[in-house]
Amino acid sequence: MTLPPNPTRRAFIHLAGGGAVAAALAPLAGCSTDYPATAVAPWAGPSAQSELRRWALAYAILAPNSHNRQPWLADLREAHAITLYVDRERVLPETDPWFRQIVVSQGTFLEALVIALRERGVEPQVQLFPQGEFAPRALDERPVARLSWQPGATVPVTKDPLFTQLLRRHTAKVAYDVQRPLAPETMAAMLQAMASPRVRAGGTLESARVAALRQLCWDAAQVELLTPRTVMESIRLTRVGPQEIATHRDGISVNGLLPRMAAVFGAFDRSAPPAAGTTAYKQMMGRFEAHSFSAMGFVWLSTPFAADAAAARTRSAEVEAGRAYMRLQLKATELGVQVHPMSQAAQEFPEMARHYQTLHQQLLGPAAGNEVVQMFCRIGYASAQPHTPRRDVDAIIRT
Ligand SMILES: Cc1cc2nc3c(=O)[nH]c(=O)nc-3n(C[C@H](O)[C@H](O)[C@H](O)COP(=O)(O)O)c2cc1C
Repeated sequence: MTLPPNPTRRAFIHLAGGGAVAAALAPLAGCSTDYPATAVAPWAGPSAQSELRRWALAYAILAPNSHNRQPWLADLREAHAITLYVDRERVLPETDPWFRQIVVSQGTFLEALVIALRERGVEPQVQLFPQGEFAPRALDERPVARLSWQPGATVPVTKDPLFTQLLRRHTAKVAYDVQRPLAPETMAAMLQAMASPRVRAGGTLESARVAALRQLCWDAAQVELLTPRTVMESIRLTRVGPQEIATHRDGISVNGLLPRMAAVFGAFDRSAPPAAGTTAYKQMMGRFEAHSFSAMGFVWLSTPFAADAAAARTRSAEVEAGRAYMRLQLKATELGVQVHPMSQAAQEFPEMARHYQTLHQQLLGPAAGNEVVQMFCRIGYASAQPHTPRRDVDAIIRT
């Protein structure tokens, strides 16, 4: 989730106080709300001279991932291969206690990596969990995937038309245009872009169903926002102002002038959840409400698409769902449509159990007991939003 940090009244009272204010605000003078150039530099893409694996990884780090934690490590010690690991320092134990979304975020990375390698004429062999899968509710030190290829192989490689969307894709976390409905064929094209036989895609534009799912998004968001330990997980990952954003280049980046002013005056308290009735609280809730109720449709991905309940919870099913989501969002980008994961109701922390069950029933019907909703997203149209920060590709490479 994204928190809209806002100044409390205290910030304005201080600001009205004059004198020392000007000095304190000096760092904001002539400031821009754009993210610092270094933090978004990876979106320029790699230089054509980059070594093949670094070149492809430079695209993979742009993949969508939960809370922009960028939970990836790429081991390059083996020639003509890339081995992908979860960076276990970058997990979200409160909202994602079984690390499912972190593993789905391995799949988005992997799909982007494969698309980029194909662009350079390399068709990698992808082996998921080459040393065995880690348990459904745990992570361990074993790799998620090993990609390998024959140097100079002459196998003809089909380039992926979605490659051109890798540098354009982003997740617009704003209210959608409620005057602009989506055409059924547009949604169908997005769903068809995902190519995994192990992942089932669904979607709806039907008004009664959309209304019920909007309400569910909002109900589930309130549970996450009003449960202190889950909302604090997001607050701790909020980076306010150019300096923090440039230092971390991950998490939830906030560069608006008002939150920055509030931070300068110590009025943006990140040590506790915003108290009910404060401006910060109202804006946090208001933003989620606006996102939920401006959904013009919903899409979702579930696994296993087989009558085998055990397979739904495997780690490879989660990776496959991430790969499918990557393709779906790239296709949406090509079509000018926004896709925004609304993961709250799909989360496994205990307070969410009721909404988790409702979500599964509403999306999957009789299959609810056998399948896991891996991604649940609103869709619609909105103006393009800035790209979010990324760390340099070197930050994830192990040599
Ligand atoms: C598994 C997964 C779950 C996500 N859940 C949410 C969510 O609940 N709310 C949200 O605002 N964004 C969600 N996102 C989107 C990420 O926040 C987003 O990809 C990340 O901040 C990077 O931004 P970008 O997609 O614009 O590059 C999710 C992404 C993934 C892959």
